[in-house]
Amino acid sequence: SASDKGGWSSFMAKEVSEQPDAVANTLRGRVSDSGVHIPELEALGDDVLAGITRIVVVGCGTAAYAGLVAKYAIEKWAGIPVEVELSHEFRYRDPVITRETLVISISQSGETMDTLMAVKYAGDAGARTISICNTQGATIPRESDAAIYTHAGPEVAVASTKAFVAQMTALYLFGLHLARVRGTLTNDEVAVELGELEAIPAKLTTVLETGGSVRQLAHWMADTRAVLFLGRHVGFPVALEGALKLKELAYIHAEGFAAGELKHGPIALIEPGQPVFVIVPSPSRSALLHAKVVSNIQEIRARGARVIAIAEQGDAAVLPFADEVIPIPLAAPLFEPFLAVVPLQLFAMELSLAKGLDVDQPRNLAKSVTVE
Ligand code: G6P
Repeated sequence: SASDKGGWSSFMAKEVSEQPDAVANTLRGRVSDSGVHIPELEALGDDVLAGITRIVVVGCGTAAYAGLVAKYAIEKWAGIPVEVELSHEFRYRDPVITRETLVISISQSGETMDTLMAVKYAGDAGARTISICNTQGATIPRESDAAIYTHAGPEVAVASTKAFVAQMTALYLFGLHLARVRGTLTNDEVAVELGELEAIPAKLTTVLETGGSVRQLAHWMADTRAVLFLGRHVGFPVALEGALKLKELAYIHAEGFAAGELKHGPIALIEPGQPVFVIVPSPSRSALLHAKVVSNIQEIRARGARVIAIAEQGDAAVLPFADEVIPIPLAAPLFEPFLAVVPLQLFAMELSLAKGLDVDQPRNLAKSVTVE
């Protein structure tokens, strides 16, 4: 009913708008002057975490993309190899698992059968298991050695939005905890990263204000048949998520690519008028990657692509080459996904609405897939 939607036209619109709170609530009680505190991890013990040699993250859909983002952060901070696998691929390929393997599952519902089976498989094979879950008492956290709950609040719309930013928040907290346990970051370094994380809710509020321009863009593009998304480094999983949102909500063929892969194939898809969203790294904080992505933009623009750049506020280098620029606030590179994903969620939602589709209940999809 409309009251459940709190005055919003859809659960999707409501949940997208709740993302500042989803992050703030997931941080609440876990950050203090002395660092990160995740009491739930006591079930595993710091000695166990210190002895982990490898992390495998499993999930499906948006949850898997949250894991892909976190891979960059956890490897950088904790110096431990992180692989991200789709749950349904993981358990049917004889994965190498030891007592020193940590399997982190990500699931908003905590009931996705593919992920549950992956967690059971990992536990039976001797791995330690942690669940990142948004639903208290769900099956997957109960099957895991420890659970770190995200506090995004109930997510009703089928396509995941606020759960995604909450999952990244929990994973980043975990990565910083692990870095402290393993001694790979000093307390001061952890404090800097925590400061970045604590600044995200206010920046999310700022990005949500771009809704009007994104709506206009979506209305112009209501007849679009295919959209490409390019990103590099942590912008790559954001590109994958942007494409997934558009498929789910607007039934438009969409693909996300690593920007560096463009010349190895996807550039053949570029023809005049082809819309391409590009997630542009920060010009000041990621100067090298920024230059490479701007050069990708020039390459596709020269072939007629219509470029929509998600770029840092004030990035003047993209302006001459982009047809549209959607600005996001300045953040350290690892934290850009929290912000860059929002215009992509809004775009998919607005395009769905422009096409007269059911944004909360897209065809053929279920909120939680409880069959294998
Ligand atoms: C379904 C939903 C997706 C979601 C995926 C994983 O396919 O439609 O939005 O990302 O399941 O769900 P989970 O509850 O495990 O995070």
